[in-house]
Parts: sequence; C-alpha cells; structure tokens
Amino acid sequence: MTVIAFASSKGGAGKTTGCIALASELARQGKEKNIGVCLIDADPNQHSAKWALKDGCPDNIFLVQNSTEETILDDIDQASEKYGFVLVDLEGTASLAVAHAISRSSLVIAPCQGSQDDADEAVKTIKLIKRQSKALNREIPFSVLFTRTNPAITPRTLKFIMNEFKEAGIDSFEVSLIDREAFRAVRSFGGTVNDLNPKEVSGIEKAAENAFSFAEEVKWKIKNSVELKAVANG
Ligand SMILES: Nc1ncnc2c1ncn2[C@@H]1O[C@H](COP(=O)(O)OP(=O)(O)O)[C@@H](O)[C@H]1O
Ligand SMILES: [Mg+2]
Repeated sequence: MTVIAFASSKGGAGKTTGCIALASELARQGKEKNIGVCLIDADPNQHSAKWALKDGCPDNIFLVQNSTEETILDDIDQASEKYGFVLVDLEGTASLAVAHAISRSSLVIAPCQGSQDDADEAVKTIKLIKRQSKALNREIPFSVLFTRTNPAITPRTLKFIMNEFKEAGIDSFEVSLIDREAFRAVRSFGGTVNDLNPKEVSGIEKAAENAFSFAEEVKWKIKNSVELKAVANG
C-alpha cells in the first residue's frame, strides 16, 4: 500500500544505503505481523538487488530486479497490492523511470550529503517531484534525508545547507543517516545491521538505532500526510 521512492539525480547520495536500511528495519518490524516489504531495484547498476540476493536477506523482503521505464508502473502497482511496503531504489539520473516511480509514491526520499553539489541535485529532484505533482494534480510528499553525517559534529557547510532548505520551505528529516561502517558492511556481507558480528564491525547497535529512528520518522511522515489529505478533503 505504501510506496516509498529514493530519488536523487546524484550518484552516491545514499539512495541504496537508505533503501536497504529502511527495507531491513521495516522487515524486522513486520516479521511477526506477516508484513512483507517489496524492494524494487530500478537502477541499471542493480546495487540493492545484489544485496537482496545475498544470504541473510530477511525472508519477508521480496525483490523485483531490473525494473525499467517500461515495467516500473506495473511493478509498483502489482507490489502495492501484495505487500505492506514497496520501496523503490532509483538510478542517479532524472529519467522517465524516476518520474514514473515518483508519480506512484506515498513519500519520496531525497538523500543528500553535506556538500553543495548534493544539495543542488536534491533541489533538482524536488523540482521534478513538484512537476509530477502538478501534472497529476495531487500532492506528492517528499523529504530530504541527510546522509553520511558525522554523529559528533555538524560541519558548517551542512548547517548552511540545512538552513537553506528550511528557508526555502523544503521538508527534511530530523533524523539523518549517520556514516557507519555497519551500513557499508551489509552491502558486502549481506543481511542486516542486526545480523553483523560486533567482533568484526563497529557501531552495530548505533546503526540499528539509527535505522529504527529513520523508519519511525518515515512512518510518521506518511501517516501525517495521509491525515492532512483527509482534513483537506473534508
Ligand atoms: N550512512 C552511510 N554510512 C556509511 N557509508 C555510506 C552511508 N551512505 C552511503 N554510504 C556509502 O557511500 C557510497 C554511495 O552510497 P549509495 O547508497 O550507494 O548511493 P546511491 O545509491 O545514491 O548512488 C557507498 O559506497 C555506500 O557504502
Ligand atoms: Mg544506488
């Protein structure tokens, strides 16, 4: 029912890492309740698919590989009927597949690292979301997710960028995705941050807490936008 797309025209912004962290956490929370998470990989590089095909991927994560501009709408619609959450990992360009995924989203997450280039690309993505909103005549909620942040300090550039978004009225997540070895490690070893060996990888618990807070804020944003829509519709 709930479709969440990770979009940013910049490669390396943190789309795949965020997508895997969120899929893993939603799957962990949904396991007992039999809630499935569909992961649609629409990036030709297939990075999230490579992760999902490794041993240790939660068995309530269902992968759709090689989604393209021709198939993505059907892939999303079919998955929405079957699974509690549909997560779409997109390529780092503004393509028709990206526009299609945005058009079906309950929430678009635009990951952004603390550099001006990333911020400029996030703004481009937001403009695309706004154009899609206009074309479809419906609100498409979106939010910027700051990624690879430092848990100890917020550098001056990042503070500047955060403030620029705020002043432009662009919503961003309170939670950021912190730069953690654990988020990198799952991409190599498979499974989720909760499955990593603390003797081999540092900061596992902190990464798991970070993924939990991120998922909570995602759910909160989706719930809020649904409630706002209900109020708007009377
Ligand atoms: N929160 C994070 N902690 C550690 N490494 C990260 C984090 N986010 C991204 N990375 C690393 O940065 C690189 C690019 O991230 P990725 O998620 O693949 O970006 P995108 O999918 O937007 O191209 C990858 O090597 C990834 O491991
Ligand atoms: Mg990627």
